[in-house]
Amino acid sequence: MAETMIGARKLDHLKLCLEMDVEYREKTTLLEDVHLVHQALSDASFDDVRIETPFMGRTLKAPLLISALTGGVPEAESLNRDLARAAQELGVALCLGSQRPMLKDRDAARSYRVRRFAPDVPILGNIGVQQAAQVGTDRTADLVRSIEADGLAVHLNIAQELSQPEGDRSFPGGCATIRALAKRLPGRVMVKETGCGLSRETAARLKACGVRTVDVAGAGGTSWPRVESLRKTPKQPQRTWLDEWGIPTAASLWEVGGLGLTVVASGGIRNGLDVAKSLAMGADLVGMALPVLRSHGRGAVEAGGRASRPPFGNDVGGRGGYDGVVRFLSGVITELKTAMLLAGADDVAALRRTGPVITGRLKEWISSRKRR
Ligand SMILES: Cc1cc2nc3c(=O)[nH]c(=O)nc-3n(C[C@H](O)[C@H](O)[C@H](O)COP(=O)(O)O)c2cc1C
Repeated sequence: MAETMIGARKLDHLKLCLEMDVEYREKTTLLEDVHLVHQALSDASFDDVRIETPFMGRTLKAPLLISALTGGVPEAESLNRDLARAAQELGVALCLGSQRPMLKDRDAARSYRVRRFAPDVPILGNIGVQQAAQVGTDRTADLVRSIEADGLAVHLNIAQELSQPEGDRSFPGGCATIRALAKRLPGRVMVKETGCGLSRETAARLKACGVRTVDVAGAGGTSWPRVESLRKTPKQPQRTWLDEWGIPTAASLWEVGGLGLTVVASGGIRNGLDVAKSLAMGADLVGMALPVLRSHGRGAVEAGGRASRPPFGNDVGGRGGYDGVVRFLSGVITELKTAMLLAGADDVAALRRTGPVITGRLKEWISSRKRR
């Protein structure tokens, strides 16, 4: 596909995600069925709650990941720079958006070269499994080296491809590609979905390919089939069953548990309580994409969807941009520590040991899958 088309599509995606209702409507993450048990008698203090977490050979100050958003278009330069600065400030990990534009145009690398803004935190490059299969292991590994990333996120997005008129219809060589990459970049490959979740079967296959880290990116947050329907028919955005397809994030966390993988929870994570529940469900790290994008573009959204300033540029009024991202993520960290204190956990390992109560549809999901 021509670079200009990819660039235009990326801008469409950013604008739709900033301004339209791009999330699941019927389906939720099912995190509402996960309950942390309140512990009234506490000996701990808020400042003693420890949330440092190891990831990709570095130590994070908080178990958070800014999930993949964008890159390759000029508008992405300031966005990625602000995300990198915010990640460095808060000591959280950053996953960049798809580096597909770099495969066609070396100049596209500018928007991904953010290491100087975030020297101490893990940065992950990003490529779709189909593009990696097309260009081979050497060129894919070079994407990581050329932006001084710590690792590579390989994204799986078949529901999005099938909902795009110009998207792929066949998906050959995925496993072999991932196996070769896992061998070439040992311990540095994370395989992620983009909002439809990972099943136990898929996670087990990924493990057999040598992958050690997965990001479930489950259903309940941004729906990529929904984004694509909005792109096709912005005036009459009919909801279809495909908009609601996927494994809810909490169910996906249960699915991938117990396989010995490092697990990132994402997809519909919107506050610190969601983060705490995900960690209690076994996640090692928790990622967010849409709320981070919106905290950056807050000025544009508040202007009624019509941007009063370049939506991805510097924040003029101090409401969004770098400040907006830091403010949003700092709030999430405070909420996470509050929830941990209330659940009687003074570190992440203790939170995982608390054993959350599981009710409702998540309980049904688990018992139905256990019976198979
Ligand atoms: C505007 C936008 C662009 C995205 N681009 C990418 C991408 O290039 N590569 C990728 O792996 N995921 C991409 N994603 C998917 C997210 O990383 C994430 O998996 C998904 O949106 C679910 O998380 P959320 O509900 O917090 O948004 C993008 C998401 C958004 C909102």
